[in-house]
Amino acid sequence: MDTRQHDDSRTSVRVEPASRLLAGAAVTAVRAPSIWNTQPWHWRIAHDTAELRADRDRQLRSIDPDGRLLTISCGAALHHACVALRAAGAAVAVERLPDGDDPDLLAVLRYGGTLDWSPMAQRLRRAITVRRSDRRPFADEPVPEHRIDRLRDAARRAGADLHVVRPQELTTLSVAAGHAAAAERTDPVYRAELAAWTGARLEGGEGVPLDTVAPVGARPVPVRDFTGDDPGPSIYSGIDVADRNARYGVIVIDADEPAGWLVAGEALSAVLLTATDEGLATSAMSDLVEDNAARAMLRRMLGSVGQPAIGVRVGVPGHGAAPPQAPRRPAKDTVEVVVDPRA
Ligand SMILES: Cc1cc2nc3c(=O)[nH]c(=O)nc-3n(C[C@H](O)[C@H](O)[C@H](O)COP(=O)(O)O)c2cc1C
Repeated sequence: MDTRQHDDSRTSVRVEPASRLLAGAAVTAVRAPSIWNTQPWHWRIAHDTAELRADRDRQLRSIDPDGRLLTISCGAALHHACVALRAAGAAVAVERLPDGDDPDLLAVLRYGGTLDWSPMAQRLRRAITVRRSDRRPFADEPVPEHRIDRLRDAARRAGADLHVVRPQELTTLSVAAGHAAAAERTDPVYRAELAAWTGARLEGGEGVPLDTVAPVGARPVPVRDFTGDDPGPSIYSGIDVADRNARYGVIVIDADEPAGWLVAGEALSAVLLTATDEGLATSAMSDLVEDNAARAMLRRMLGSVGQPAIGVRVGVPGHGAAPPQAPRRPAKDTVEVVVDPRA
């Protein structure tokens, strides 16, 4: 059997129709959000199946020693691929963590025939191409409640809960984010990894370009400082601060373990794409769960029911041009198609 890389133009290899569909979906999934844009996944497609594997070489030592954020990122890629397949009219069966002896094999997708046209799948597929993290302060307009309801439904359909943070819980979120920032700012391993993933790594189509980040500034809940030189985010609750119409959600899972993290990533993707489809801007916030003390604060906020997996920030986009899209690795580096020479 001849193994060849899938190329970006999707035209140079002769593969079976099911493999072609799966490869197209895997290429689309490169647009999924990932921790620091590490894109820590690898797809292997053979006949009518696609295997999604974790790429541990891309795991961040400082903030992700257990692989929680890596697995959430892969879950987001899994959901993106499923959206692309649904939009292409393809049915797939998904087996999550199918092999207890092979924990890096996160999912196997098996092509299962055709499905009817779905307008919703088309809309979410379009959202994949336009979504990006928007860390700027949001506009001074509230997010209509029915839009928040749609996000909650999207998370639930993906198998997790979206806890929508109530006004009286904002202080907990602020303190948790501030605590995580303070702890991480003084960690030399964190600082070295942050410098790499906002610097040299960008050449390979990965990492977080500084023109996609926004000043931390005075916000009710500080966002991550990607520059590493902010003196320390301040927490303000006055009426003159930016971002006061931001809404926050926490993706909640049953158990803090790989199966839950994968589902959390799928739910994160579902929430972000649905919000994009609703014309809302979003950014993920994992600092809230990276630090043990911050995670414990969130757990208490949830009434000790379920495990906080990741935070989401949602709002009406601010004025001016949207931030640029972050780059991606070439698909040939993440998508491998196994070609049967007899085909
Ligand atoms: C698990 C996970 C954790 C993330 N944590 C943060 C975060 O704490 N702060 C932030 O601004 N963005 C965060 N992001 C967003 C990524 O930085 C972003 O998806 C990546 O840089 C690619 O950019 P894009 O979302 O614009 O496509 C996170 C994304 C994922 C999937």
